[in-house]
Amino acid sequence: MKTYDVVGVGFGPSNLSLAIALDEHPAGMTAAFFERQSSFGWHRNMLLPSATMQISFLKDLATFRNPTSPFSFVSFLHEHGRLPRFVNNQDFFPTRQEFHQYLEWAETRVSHQVSYRSEVTSMRLPQGTGAATHVKIAIRDTSRGDIRWVGARNVVVSTGLVPRMPHGVIADQRVWHSSEFLGKFQAMNPAELRTVAVVGAGQSAAEITRFMHDALPHAQVYSIMPSYGYSVADDTPFANQVFDPAAVDDYYYGSDQAREAFWRYHRNTNYSVVDDEVIRDLFRRTYDEEVRDHRRLHFLNLTRVTEVKRVGDETRVLLDSMAGVTSELDVDAIVFASGYDSMDPTRLLGDLNRFCLTDEHGRLRVERDYRVATTSDLGCGIYLQGGTEHTHGLSSALLSNIAVRSGEIVESIMRRKAGFEDGFAGAFEEVRRDAA
Ligand code: FDA
Ligand code: NAP
Repeated sequence: MKTYDVVGVGFGPSNLSLAIALDEHPAGMTAAFFERQSSFGWHRNMLLPSATMQISFLKDLATFRNPTSPFSFVSFLHEHGRLPRFVNNQDFFPTRQEFHQYLEWAETRVSHQVSYRSEVTSMRLPQGTGAATHVKIAIRDTSRGDIRWVGARNVVVSTGLVPRMPHGVIADQRVWHSSEFLGKFQAMNPAELRTVAVVGAGQSAAEITRFMHDALPHAQVYSIMPSYGYSVADDTPFANQVFDPAAVDDYYYGSDQAREAFWRYHRNTNYSVVDDEVIRDLFRRTYDEEVRDHRRLHFLNLTRVTEVKRVGDETRVLLDSMAGVTSELDVDAIVFASGYDSMDPTRLLGDLNRFCLTDEHGRLRVERDYRVATTSDLGCGIYLQGGTEHTHGLSSALLSNIAVRSGEIVESIMRRKAGFEDGFAGAFEEVRRDAA
């Protein structure tokens, strides 16, 4: 069993950014990353043609950590001969398709460290050790099904958001979550999709509604939303500061009241909100249909889906309006853009959970350097990229801070490694805790 300094679980943008931070660090460390997909892909099922990024291109994999990095989005543009035209376009927000090309370009430079079709299924301590300085990680080959093991002195878990369906709704061939949208849509014969519905009032719902309105010119398209209309995502300059690297400190070291204020006042920077341009586009479409007296885009507001039933070949959706009226809608397909739960590493940690410290709400305690606080029996580091909204704030599940966060994790691993090598691990831990 080979043991690495760092093992990354999942290889989305967060751990790609970590691989780059490791690559750029002068002290070489051995690293391996395991990803269950068959190749690199970032929310591929939502790569809709006109969808744009929700952050500036400068918040790429490396720039905020190292503005001279050869892994920057600007380097990517330069290498592809597009830098002047990108600048002439005068837009901070590239399309998701172009950003995906950038991520793939960066991935090719570190791909020798990544194993695809490799799902991490559990972790445990090696037998017979005292204070364990490494853990064993089980990796299932998703094509063959066999399990192999690697050792890790540090694990960085970055398995991403978890798709959420309303209670009791089960996905099938005609009932989809937005995270599987394009794959499911492309498997259908468009002519069969005469009535479709999209549930939710967030960015995914608005983008899918627009896409289906374009892609299915013969279809009735229903948007079922719990609000009175879409609300705009606040990306104005003062509000956008909640995603700055400095905001992580303000959140982490802030009082309960301060942390609560972040969520109360700034949730609308990200959750259940939509970019201004998409909102205006959709409204223009519905107004245009009204003018032409040919309506096929329908917005059912103040409405939630309570149940989905299969009736013969039909999918019947039960709707609950906030006026107390219940109704039904028969659809050929329905997309639940009903959001995501944040990353929860506890299932993967398995046996290791008993060493992990939790707060009064049962949530993992996480140090400022993103390391899970553990008892002293566990000497190896478990780091989280994601799932730290309760400790590190709003940017935890987003791209805004991944370059800086990855750099902080690498520095922490290096400091701890040096501490162990000098035999001062215990003393170092004490100092670090005092400082925190
Ligand atoms: P991400 O989910 O990207 O990657 C996790 C990886 O881990 C996946 O590839 C998965 O297959 C793998 N994995 C999971 N379990 C595993 C296991 N047990 N073993 C091995 N591999 C495993 N944010 C933002 O700041 N700006 C934006 O523009 C957008 N846009 C955006 C679009 C859409 C459609 C969504 C749904 C979300 C966004 N986001 C966003 C938020 C989003 O969370 C963020 O962009 C990144 O995906 C976070 O990157 P991660 O690498 O942390 O997770
Ligand atoms: P989201 O913002 O959490 O929105 C989910 C929506 O579904 C909410 O409006 C929610 O309403 C609604 N909902 C849940 N259950 C419902 C039900 N039973 N009936 C009716 N409505 C229901 O999720 P998202 O839109 O998928 O966005 C998630 C993340 O991905 C965000 O960070 C977003 O910015 C990002 N994203 C980015 C892009 C891009 O970069 N272009 C594209 C898509 C998504 P309640 O809140 O009232 O429950």
